[in-house]
Amino acid sequence: MSSRVTTSESISLPGQKDASAGGFSRREFLGKGLAVAGWGVMFASLGAGLYQGIRFLYPAVVFHPPSTYVIGQLKDFVTDERADQYGVIFVDPKFKKDHRFFVVREAGRIYSLFARCTHLGCTVNWFEELNIFKCPCHGSEFHSNGVEFAGPAPRPLDRHHIAVDNGGNIIVDTARVYSKDEFEEQKIFIEVG
Ligand code: FES
Repeated sequence: MSSRVTTSESISLPGQKDASAGGFSRREFLGKGLAVAGWGVMFASLGAGLYQGIRFLYPAVVFHPPSTYVIGQLKDFVTDERADQYGVIFVDPKFKKDHRFFVVREAGRIYSLFARCTHLGCTVNWFEELNIFKCPCHGSEFHSNGVEFAGPAPRPLDRHHIAVDNGGNIIVDTARVYSKDEFEEQKIFIEVG
C-alpha cells in the first residue's frame, strides 16, 4: 500500500497561527503590513509632488522692509555749535536701535554711519561723554567721524547713501552701503550751510 503526499497541505511552525483556522500567519501579517507601508509611501510621494507643483504655479512672494528713512529736514540741521577735533558737531544715535545707523553732522556736511563694526559685524555703540564709538565684541574703537583708532577693526565704519528730495527731506538708504574708498571718492554726504 502506497502513501501519498499532497502539496496543498500547510505546515504550521511553532508560534504561527493556522491560516485555515481564520487567522493570519506571521508571514501573511508581515506581507500585509509591507503592502500598507508601500501604499503610504506612494501617497506621501504623490502629495509631495502635488505640493511642489502648486508651489511652482504660485511662487512665494518675499516682502522686504523699506530701506529708506527720512531723518529730518535740511533746515533742521543748521547749527552754530562748535565742531570737535575731527570736524564733527554732533552724532545723533536715535536711528541706531531700529535701523542701525548714526547721523553725523560735520561742519559743512551730514552723513549716515553704518553701526556695523568693520571687524566682524557687531553693532557699535556711541559714547557721547567719550566722543567715540565702541564695539562690544572685541573692543574696537572709532572716532566721532567713524575712523578706527583701537582694536582689530581694519577700516572706518561704512556709510549709507544719503540724499535730499524736492521737499527738503534728508533720506538715508540703508540698502546702499559704501566703504571708505567708495564714500570718499563718490562724496557720500550732503552739504549743509
Ligand atoms: S566685531 Fe567689533 S571688534 Fe570684533
